[in-house]
Amino acid sequence: MKFFIDTANLAQIKEAHELGVLDGVTTNPSLMAKEGITGQENILNHYKAICEITDGDVSAEVIATTFNEMVAEGEALAALHPQIVVKLPMIKDGVKAAKYFSEKGIKTNVTLVFSAGQALLAAKAGATYVSPFIGRLDDVSTDGLRLIEEIREIYDNYGYETEILAASVRHAMHIVNCAKIGADVITGPLSAIEALLKHPLTDNGLAQFLADHANAASK
Ligand code: E4P
Repeated sequence: MKFFIDTANLAQIKEAHELGVLDGVTTNPSLMAKEGITGQENILNHYKAICEITDGDVSAEVIATTFNEMVAEGEALAALHPQIVVKLPMIKDGVKAAKYFSEKGIKTNVTLVFSAGQALLAAKAGATYVSPFIGRLDDVSTDGLRLIEEIREIYDNYGYETEILAASVRHAMHIVNCAKIGADVITGPLSAIEALLKHPLTDNGLAQFLADHANAASK
């Protein structure tokens, strides 16, 4: 399973990259705004800076909501760097744009997916990635992981190559459960990825090993 980090924060992307487990980055307009990145030139330069840190795919989301504008914006984003994946919202024109980019060999990530039907459409349009938002479903008492299972079943039934990118991942158990279910990729914050490291028995065990070593060495 691939690990993407879901942030536009360069320091956190660098930290995840240095851990050696980072396969790519996803961003969205809210994450860019959170970092204070505004203005077209700054936004484009920021995507380029992200591509310089990671070797993996970097999702850059269009702001446009009509087909012609999505195509123009997506082509400009894709021209920035070979690692850029054009992120498109799951709306009618987004599906049309996913089909357009797929025929041109440009990678896409269809985002804001909350149902199996939407994921089926994204695959039919030839999207590279589909992004079901599991955390936001959990937030409204709907089982986000169940949606991943449904999409896995549908894609496997027909051999769709669209990768299931479990998005809106919030914590370590989301990642573990996505791995059990067969999501191709997860994207989440650095905190969720680093939480996989933690176990008190590891910390206690290491403390004991080091204490025993120090005691033996002092004799
Ligand atoms: C997906 O690519 C989105 O950027 C993201 O995962 C949304 O997560 P959130 O629900 O934590 O905002």
